[in-house]
Amino acid sequence: MSRFYITTAIDYVNSRPHLGTAYEKIAADVIARYKRLRGIETRFMMGNDEHSQNVFQRAGELGVEPLAFCDDMERAFRDVWARLDISFDDFIRTTEARHRTGVTALASRLTEAGDVYEGYFEGWYCVSCEAFKTEKDLEDGNCPVHRKPPQWIKEKNHFFRLSKYRQRLLDHYAAHPEFLEPEIRRNEMLRLLESGLDDISMSRTGQAWGIPVPSDPGSVIYVWFDALINYISGVGYGADDALFETWWPADLHVIGKDITRFHCVIWPAMLMSAGVPLPRRVFGHGWVHWQGQKMSKSLGTVVDPLEAADRLGPDPLRLYLTKEIAFGQDGDFTWDRFEERYNVDLANNFGNLVSRLASMAHRYREGRLTAPPSSPGPLAEAAVGAVAAYREAMDAFALHGGVAAAFQLVDAANEYIAAVEPWVTARDPARAAELDRQLYDVSEAVRIAAVLLTPVMPRSCREVLARVGAPADGADLNLDRDGVWATPPGAERRVVKGDPLWPRLDPGRAAADGGAAAQRKVSPPRKVVGRKVRVAADADTGVQRREQRTMNDSERRAVDEAPPAAAATPPLTEVDGATAAASGGAAAVAGTGTAEVAEAAHETPRISIDEFAKVELRVGRVVTAEAVRKSKKLVRLEIDDGAGVRQVVAGIARAYEPESLVGRHVVFVANLQPARLMGIESNGMVLAALDAEGQPVLLRPDDPERAPAGSAIR
Ligand code: MSP
Repeated sequence: MSRFYITTAIDYVNSRPHLGTAYEKIAADVIARYKRLRGIETRFMMGNDEHSQNVFQRAGELGVEPLAFCDDMERAFRDVWARLDISFDDFIRTTEARHRTGVTALASRLTEAGDVYEGYFEGWYCVSCEAFKTEKDLEDGNCPVHRKPPQWIKEKNHFFRLSKYRQRLLDHYAAHPEFLEPEIRRNEMLRLLESGLDDISMSRTGQAWGIPVPSDPGSVIYVWFDALINYISGVGYGADDALFETWWPADLHVIGKDITRFHCVIWPAMLMSAGVPLPRRVFGHGWVHWQGQKMSKSLGTVVDPLEAADRLGPDPLRLYLTKEIAFGQDGDFTWDRFEERYNVDLANNFGNLVSRLASMAHRYREGRLTAPPSSPGPLAEAAVGAVAAYREAMDAFALHGGVAAAFQLVDAANEYIAAVEPWVTARDPARAAELDRQLYDVSEAVRIAAVLLTPVMPRSCREVLARVGAPADGADLNLDRDGVWATPPGAERRVVKGDPLWPRLDPGRAAADGGAAAQRKVSPPRKVVGRKVRVAADADTGVQRREQRTMNDSERRAVDEAPPAAAATPPLTEVDGATAAASGGAAAVAGTGTAEVAEAAHETPRISIDEFAKVELRVGRVVTAEAVRKSKKLVRLEIDDGAGVRQVVAGIARAYEPESLVGRHVVFVANLQPARLMGIESNGMVLAALDAEGQPVLLRPDDPERAPAGSAIR
C-alpha cells in the first residue's frame, strides 16, 4: 500500500489559534482526508512550537512555569482542532522527549559534518517572527510582517554553514521542480538562492528556555532549527529507525508563505548536511486576510475560528476556506461573505438538492427508490466528468478546483431536476419507470457529490450519505469504489427525510452583530430605498385595463385556511396586469394577510394612479418552496427579492408542486404588511392569473434575464 506523510507548520503557543493558522490545518486536513479516500495509508502530523521567547514571556506575564503554560495551551489547541474536525494522527510538542532526542541527534550530525562553528552575531531580530533580519528585510525600520521594530542583538552564537549548500540547493530545485509549490514561491526562493546565502546562527545565548546545544550546554538551539526538526523527530529520527524508514521522507509540508525560506532553504540544507533525504514537496499557501491585512495576533486582526464554526458549523467554515481561497493564494474572510456563500452553496444549492430529492422520493415512492433496467440518464456523464476533474485538481493540491468540480455535479443535478420535471413525469402512471430513473439518478449524483466533498465537509457528507440511503463513514469510503456511477437495475435505496441540513439565513443580520450566534431566520421585508413603484405617465393603459371582478371560490378556499388570529390583517388585495387581463382575470393567490376577506362589491371602484402607486410590485426568484403542513393549498416560499430573501405563503399548492417552483421567477406585491397564514409569517403576495377552473397560473416576466429578482414593475 502506498503511504503519504503530511505535516503542517507547528504553531507558536503564546496565543490561541486564529482563523489564519486554522486555515492551514483545515487545508492540510482536506488533503489528508483526500489521500485516505484514495486508499493511501496516511500519517498527518501537526503540533506546537513551544521554545519561543514569546511563549516564555507570556508564561512569565501570567506568572506560571513555561511548561505548565504550554500544557494548558496544548489543551486549548487540541480543543480547537477537535471542533474543526482536524483528523491528525500525531501531535508533537517541541518540549517532548522524543523531539529533544531528534534535535540532539541532528545537531550532532551537523557538527560531525563540519558545518557548525562559533562566532558572534550582531544584527536585528524580530521576536514575533523569531527571525534574524537584515536592513533590507525591514520596511521603515519595521518588520514587514509584524509592523514593529526588531531588536538589535549582539551575542556569541553557533553558526551553520548554510552558504556551503547554495549550489546543491539550486541543483535540487532544478532536478525537482515539484519540490516547492506554487510556482511564485519557487521563483522567490530561486531568486534568493541566486543572490547568495550567508551562514546563519543556529543557537542563542543567555536563554534557558530551549534545547541545549550538545557541545555547549550554555546555549540553546535557535528556535527555528529546533522547530524544523519536528518533522523527523515525530517519525522517530534518532530513536526508532523502523518508524523513520516507514515514513520519511515526508510527502508534503504544508506551510504559510511567510516561512518558505525556513522550509525551502534552511531545512533542506540542514538535511543535506546530516545526510537525510529531503521532503518530497513543500506547499507554501497564502494568507487569510482580514480587512486587507494578514490575519495575525500581533497585528490584532484575528477572527476566532471557533466563533466562525459556532456560527454556521465547522463544515461550512471548512468549505468556505477551501472553496473561496485558491490554494496558494491569499484570500479574504468577512462575515458577510462567509454567510453569503453559506446561503448560495449550502442552503440554496446542495442542501436544497438533498431536500428536493427527499421530498420527491417520499411523495412519489414513499422514500424507496429502485433503479430501473433502463440506461442511466445524462447525470451519469456529468458525474464521470466531475469525478475526473476532482481527482485531477485534488492530486495537484488545487483544493478549490476539487470542490468546484464536486459542485458542478450538484449544479448538474439541480439542472437535471428542472429539465426533466419529475413532478410532471409523476402525473402519468405509464411513465413510472422513467420517474424511477429520474429519482434514482438524482440520488446517485447526490451520493457521489457527498463522497467527493467528504474530505472538506466530513460530518455533513456523512449525513447526506445517510439521507440518500448510502450510509458510510468517511473512513469506510474509497474513491475508486465509491466515486463510480452505479445504478444497477433493481438496486434499492431508502431516502430519509430530515430537517434542512443548512437552513438559510438572512445575510445582513448575522453579519451586523459582529459575531453572535447564527441567526437562522428568514428576513422580514427589507426597506428598499429609492425603488418606489411608479406608474407610467400614460396610465391610461394600466388603469383602464384593470378588470373589475369579485373573489371566486378558489381564492376564498385558499384564504379560509388561514387561522382566525390573522383576522385583523388587511384584506386580500386584488391586482392584475396585462397578462392577467389577457387570460381573463387575475388573482392575488398568496398572501400577506387574509383571514378575512371583505365581500367584494360586484364592481370594484376605480382607483387613482396615486392609489395604484402605493402598491410596490416586484420580480422575485423562488429560492426554496415547501408545502405547508396540514394545508392542501399553501406553499411556503422563500423569495429572493433582489435585496434579500423574504418568506411568502402562497395558495398555489393545488396547481404547483413545490419543487417545480424553485428557481422560477414570480411577480409579487412587496409592500404588504406582514401577516400570518397557518401560523407562518408571510411578507408579500405572489400574483397569478386564474384559469377557467379558478386555479392559479403564476405570472412571471417575459425575459427574466432582463428583469431579474428585485426589478420594479410599473
Ligand atoms: N512556529 C512557526 C512554524 C514552525 S514550523 C517548523 C510559526 N508559527 S505560527 O504560529 O506563527 O504560524 C503557524 C502557521 O500558520 C504558519 O505556517 C503561518 O504561515 C500560518 N499562518 C499564520 N497566519 C496566517 C494567516 N493569516 N493566513 C494563513 N496562514 C497563516 O510560524
